[in-house]
Amino acid sequence: MAVTDRAHAADLDRGDPLGPFRSRFVDAEPGLVYLDGNSLGMLPRATAARLHWVVEEEWGRGLIRSWDAWVDLPQRVGDRLGTTLLGARPGETVVADSTTVNLYKALTAAVAARPGRSTIVVDGHEFPTDRYVAAAVADAHHLQVRGLGADDVAGPTPADVERAVADGDVAAVVVSLVSFRSGAWADLAGITATARAAGAIVVWDLSHAVGSVPVDLPGAGADIAVGCTYKYLCGGPGAPAFIWVDRDRQAEMRQPVWGWFAQRDQFAMGPAFDPLGGAAGWLSGSPPVLGLAAVDEGVGLVGEAGMGAIRAKSEALTALAVELVDAWLGPLGGELATPRMPGRRGAHVSVRHHRADALVAALGREKVVADFRPPDLVRLGLSPLTTRFTDVWDGLDRFRRLLASQT
Ligand SMILES: Cc1ncc(COP(=O)(O)O)c(C=O)c1O
Repeated sequence: MAVTDRAHAADLDRGDPLGPFRSRFVDAEPGLVYLDGNSLGMLPRATAARLHWVVEEEWGRGLIRSWDAWVDLPQRVGDRLGTTLLGARPGETVVADSTTVNLYKALTAAVAARPGRSTIVVDGHEFPTDRYVAAAVADAHHLQVRGLGADDVAGPTPADVERAVADGDVAAVVVSLVSFRSGAWADLAGITATARAAGAIVVWDLSHAVGSVPVDLPGAGADIAVGCTYKYLCGGPGAPAFIWVDRDRQAEMRQPVWGWFAQRDQFAMGPAFDPLGGAAGWLSGSPPVLGLAAVDEGVGLVGEAGMGAIRAKSEALTALAVELVDAWLGPLGGELATPRMPGRRGAHVSVRHHRADALVAALGREKVVADFRPPDLVRLGLSPLTTRFTDVWDGLDRFRRLLASQT
């Protein structure tokens, strides 16, 4: 059967061991093809029930007494996330603040751990917040920012990093493990080792990687990483992010936003900051309890499915998308802007087209939700727990019809 046949996609759905997970999520709307789970994951039914419980029972009836159970949620949910999805050991991960704030903390700590060095490296294709935070930290510490010169599709490589850190003046490098633009999956261990050989610390952004590709931070020798939870972990809009700090680096790096939730004897309310050990020392203020409860549920679902099965389905989903982009969109002016080798890409596929902006809007009118990323990318997020193979087929079929009708 040809790959362009819808029956082929339907066959893949029938044989999909993760297929039953789709019914664990709230159905948004009949006929909607949601290819944006890499921006905002769908709502798990268990999360709706859990949030209802936290609001009605824990807050409504428990009132302030519930803080006994809430106070260490950042550590508990962090450990669950870290040990399930990052290869972390207990005490290395907390869930708190936004990715932006965690990046600021991580990068500030990294440059402070490399006194005398005057450069931060971040690629020009990196997510805006990563570039802005690098600029802010550089500004605050009188450093300069240098680009990485990575290819927009292939993403950053160890060779790019080697060139960028060659002068020995680089304190830290900010890199996304999976590029928000092309979906390129970077070499975690290779880039970390290359930077370290020149004395630089890599601050990893796992926003598009966590829950979509297998990650072993300690195994790769990483020092510090951050990431968000509202994409593949389905934590919901504005859900708190995570920060992971390798246990052997915790003494060497000190975060800049000292607050009472990181304080050793918090309710003694003592005169001086005396941080908790481990990742808990990277907390700052009151945790967002509702968001944490939602992240807890999302991590539970991803853990139940297992990263092995998730990655296997993800490779198959992106392979189908790549084949359909080539077969259908190529002749109509749409070009694949994602690495072709399955081992080099995460869970989304991007298509380059000079009218990408208008196309994403038109796709929306055809009930296909995708993302526009300037200047010319249509980004299709294929979230293994919720995207069906027939969604990929239907989405790209509507995409091709749209292009065909406009040429
Ligand atoms: C790579 C990357 N970093 C950071 C963020 C967002 O950061 P924040 O959680 O602070 O909004 C995103 C959001 O899409 C992202 O894709």
